[in-house]
This record gives sequence, C-alpha cells and structure tokens, in this order.
Amino acid sequence: MSLSPAQAQDADGTSIIRERCTVCHIDSGDADKPFSRISEQRKTPEGWMMTISRMQKLRGAVIPANEKRALVKYLADNQGLAPTETDGLRYVLEKEPNVLESFDPLIQETCVRCHSGARIALQRRTEDEWKWLVHFHMGQQPTAELHAGARDRDWFGIALNQVAPKLGQDYALDTKAWSQWQAAVKQPLNGTWAMSGFLPQRGNFNADVVVTKTDNDHYELTLNGQYEDGSKLSGSGKAVVYTGYEWRASVTLDGVKMRQVLAASADGKTLAGRMFERDADVMGGPVTAVKANAITKISPSYIRQGERKLITVSGSQLKGTVALGSGVKVIRVQSRDNNHLTVLAEASHSAAVGSRNVQVGKTSSKGALTVYDQLARVEITPVDSIARVGGAGGLIPKQKSWYRAVGYAAGQDGKPGTADDLRLGYMPASWSLKPFNEIAVHDEDIKYAGTIDSRGIFTPGDAGPNPARKMSTNNVGNLAVVGTVEDGQQTVSAETHLLVTVQKFVQALID
Ligand code: HEC
Ligand code: HEC
Repeated sequence: MSLSPAQAQDADGTSIIRERCTVCHIDSGDADKPFSRISEQRKTPEGWMMTISRMQKLRGAVIPANEKRALVKYLADNQGLAPTETDGLRYVLEKEPNVLESFDPLIQETCVRCHSGARIALQRRTEDEWKWLVHFHMGQQPTAELHAGARDRDWFGIALNQVAPKLGQDYALDTKAWSQWQAAVKQPLNGTWAMSGFLPQRGNFNADVVVTKTDNDHYELTLNGQYEDGSKLSGSGKAVVYTGYEWRASVTLDGVKMRQVLAASADGKTLAGRMFERDADVMGGPVTAVKANAITKISPSYIRQGERKLITVSGSQLKGTVALGSGVKVIRVQSRDNNHLTVLAEASHSAAVGSRNVQVGKTSSKGALTVYDQLARVEITPVDSIARVGGAGGLIPKQKSWYRAVGYAAGQDGKPGTADDLRLGYMPASWSLKPFNEIAVHDEDIKYAGTIDSRGIFTPGDAGPNPARKMSTNNVGNLAVVGTVEDGQQTVSAETHLLVTVQKFVQALID
C-alpha cells in the first residue's frame, strides 16, 4: 500500500518506518529508541537522504518518493543536528568547491580518503553505531584495507578500536547542544527578506525575497532585485525547512535552476549560506538575507586615501543618514531604496589607514569599510583548485572553476605578507593562465586544458582522448591562474594552482 501525498505528509515518521523498514530493522517497541540502526544516529537532511537511498539501491528497500521525502523530514527534525553541531562544516552541505579540510590526524589518515571529513563530522552516533559503520565499510568495500595509507597498517583494527571510540566521544549521540535545540522555540521564516549575495556569472546582487508559508515548514518564495550592472533579477521557488533551521530551496532565477542551502539564525532574523546552480554546483556564491533592519554588505569594502568612488550599502530597511566613518565623506547619495543605497564617497588624503564602521540611521556594520594607503599584495581564492574536463557528447558536463582577487594593504609595519596586513576585500582583476611546471610546458597543457574569461571563470577542455596530444591523452593539465589588479599607481599580480583533471564519476549528496 502506498500513501497519497497528503497522507504521507501527515503520516508519522514512525509509521512509515514500521511499514517500510522493519522488514529488516528490528522494532523493539521501546518508546524512546525503538528501531535498530535507525534510532541511535543523528544526521543532516542530506545525510538521511543518502542513507535511505543506500537502503533502496543496495539493500532493496521499497519506499515511494513522497514517503521518502516525509521520512527524511521526520528523521531530520527528530534526529538532526543542532545549529552549533554544523558550525564550520556547512561547506559540504553548501557544495562549496575546493575546500581544504583539516581533521584530527587519526581520522584524517584512517577515514578522510574516499570522502570528506565533514561527511563524518556531520553525524552523531553511539560508539556501537560508529563501530557498526566501520563494519559496514569493511563489508561493503574491502579494498579500503589495500589503499595507500592503509596496507602498511592494521586499517580495520585501527578504525574499529581507535577511530570508533574517539568518534563516539567527539560526536556522541546525546549532546547538550541537541537537547537544548530540541527544546528551543523555532521561529517561522515567512515574511519579507532583503537578500544580498554574489554569483560568479553575474557578480553582486540584491533582492527582496517574499516568503509565504504554504504548510508547516513549507514555503513559497519570490525574488526581485538587481545585479550590480543594474540589470533586473527575478525568480521564484519553494523551500522546506528541516530541523527548525535548515532552509533548502529550489528556485528558478532568470531561467536558471538554482538551489539555496541556508541556515536560519535562532532568532529567525537571518538566513545565510550559499546559492548555486542545480546542475553545476561550483557555479554559486555566498548569500545572506535579513528580515530586520541590518546592513549585510558594503561593496566595495575599501577606499584609498584621496580617492573618490561609488560605494553600495546593502541590507534591510536602510533609513536615515549614511556615515562612512572618520575621514570618509559622503559627497552625495546617488540612489537609494529600502534595502540598497549607493553613495559617492571621498576619503581625505589624511584619513587614518584602517577599518571603520558604516552607519545608516540606527544600524551600523562594524569595521565594514577600510581606508588604505596603497595596494601591497593580492591573494587569489581559492588557494588550490580543481576543474574537470567533460561534455563533448559525454554524460558528464564540464566542471568549471572560478576565481576572485582579494587585495591587502601592508598595514602598520609597511611590509606586505605579515600578520598585520589589512584585508581590503574583493577587487576587480584581469585573468590569465600559465603552465604550472616544466612538464606542463612540455605537454603544452595551456593549449588544451581550457580557457579563462574576464570574470575569472575557467572552462576546461572537452572530455575524451585528444589525437593532437602525446599518446592521444585527454585534455587534463596543470596550470597556474594569474590574477592582476590595477589600483591607483599599483599593478599587483598573484597566482593560484589549478589542476584540470578527469570527470567525477561518483556523485554524492555529501561529498
Ligand atoms: C532489505 C533490508 C533493509 C531494508 C528494507 C532497510 N534496511 Fe536499513 N539497513 C539494512 C542493512 C543490511 C544495513 C547495514 C548495512 C548498511 O549500513 O548499508 C542497514 C543499515 C541502516 C542504517 C545504518 C546506516 C549507517 O550508516 O550506519 C540506517 C540508518 C538504516 N538502515 C535505515 C533504514 C531505513 C530508514 C529504512 C526504511 C526506509 C531501511 N533502513 C530499510 C537493510 C535494510
Ligand atoms: C574505501 C573508501 C572509504 C573509506 C576509507 C572510508 N569511507 Fe566512509 N564511506 C565510503 C562510501 C563509498 C560511503 C557511501 C556509502 C553509501 O551511502 O552508498 C561512505 C559513507 C560514510 C558515511 C555515511 C554513512 C551513512 O549512511 O550515514 C559515514 C558517516 C562514513 N562513511 C564515515 C567513515 C569513517 C568514520 C571512516 C574511517 C573509519 C570512513 N568513512 C572511511 C567510503 C569510505
């Protein structure tokens, strides 16, 4: 028997589990934790989705899509993670590309090889459950013991007797954070929000987001706003909120299908995270939305001594006089509406180097604008990156990569590259590519591996063997991305590494 969509929405998760899962999982009838393997774990909505998909694919569990959605919702709500338990690990949910992780060496060496460390750290289990997970790994992929970094030691013994007990301590099932979050009053997220963010293809944008509630934790949203070049932005979509704060929305923005993975603050007044293309998750950027009177962004976030330039302040309900801090004068307000204003600003020649608060009426943003003497150094983000060949008639599209330049002034000591360097913010740059090393020169990677455009977006070459290359190899390559910033009298360049490699053949919700 399959439940209708409405029935599935309402169905208690436990009745779905009894119907769909207890053919294999034991139901002890215990009031608190009845189901073997299911009741003693907590994870994110994506984590639950992955597990249930494995039950379907590998174990043969049968569950219709609507019941699966309802069950993921039920499990994420009742056996999820508290906001503080996802802090610092959200990059993997947000699909942030090119993150370099760093975990405890024991876990890093034993586990963080086939998948991210965040996949582990975003779960909470009893020690026994961590042990059974190790058994599952050994049974499902016995080659784990034969990989580099495993065959020179007793991998299974270490995973079972050292890693699992440590995980049972560090990531225990019962935590104060979770019981407090379960007891906390969750704020509804309907209302009008002011969103600002960055998208690699379009740059900075601002939007009014109107969110209406359609059902408990289910919302519809419309977005209206503009990109920094003045062109209009519009979109609409649907959102589901899991665990009282995990906002997951599918929106169509100017014809492009996008996903929003955001976290609501406990007071229900801020939503922050990342928005990215559904079919190309690399192509996205950070977004923040606020409901109450607040400043979310200053762009640009820097002004040189003696310079006159336009500065845009984004936020919500921005009423009142604009003040940019000591030594920076507002010459005139160029344009303004409730959530967004542009001023012509001038920094005096003697304005003190350093950051100052930006104030609009009663709201201020701490240290949001930096006055500097001269650009001393540039950093390219991400510091290390990967792009993947694709397309050319194959099933897997090209995976692009994209870059931004962050400017720094030298700070008090006058020396760039020291701890007191002053971060100015993202600066416009011009982009080029170089071979990374001699082998890349020899193999002419620069000719085959891909191209970079004026926005810093790198598009890799076509998939498949290339007869023009030595031994008909494919279009992989080892490159350096060079970003050059021109600012006042200064022209400053910096590089970052880019490895163009083969397609990713295994796609996971949580990498
Ligand atoms: C056909 C048998 C079968 C069905 C039906 C089944 N499971 Fe499982 N389940 C297993 C087996 C076998 C394992 C242990 C191996 C593994 O983790 O994949 C398991 C393990 C699990 C685990 C532990 C995973 C981990 O990471 O430690 C969870 C949670 C789980 N199942 C949930 C469910 C849910 C929810 C359902 C119902 C939608 C379900 N299972 C239906 C066989 C089944
Ligand atoms: C040989 C590669 C490999 C190694 C090494 C490895 N894993 Fe995994 N792990 C996987 C794969 C593959 C999956 C996904 C299984 C699926 O859902 O189909 C997985 C899934 C997981 C999950 C999610 C399971 C769920 O259903 O919730 C966790 C948590 C995890 N691994 C933890 C660990 C820990 C802890 C270690 C170290 C003891 C480890 N992994 C080492 C390959 C590996």
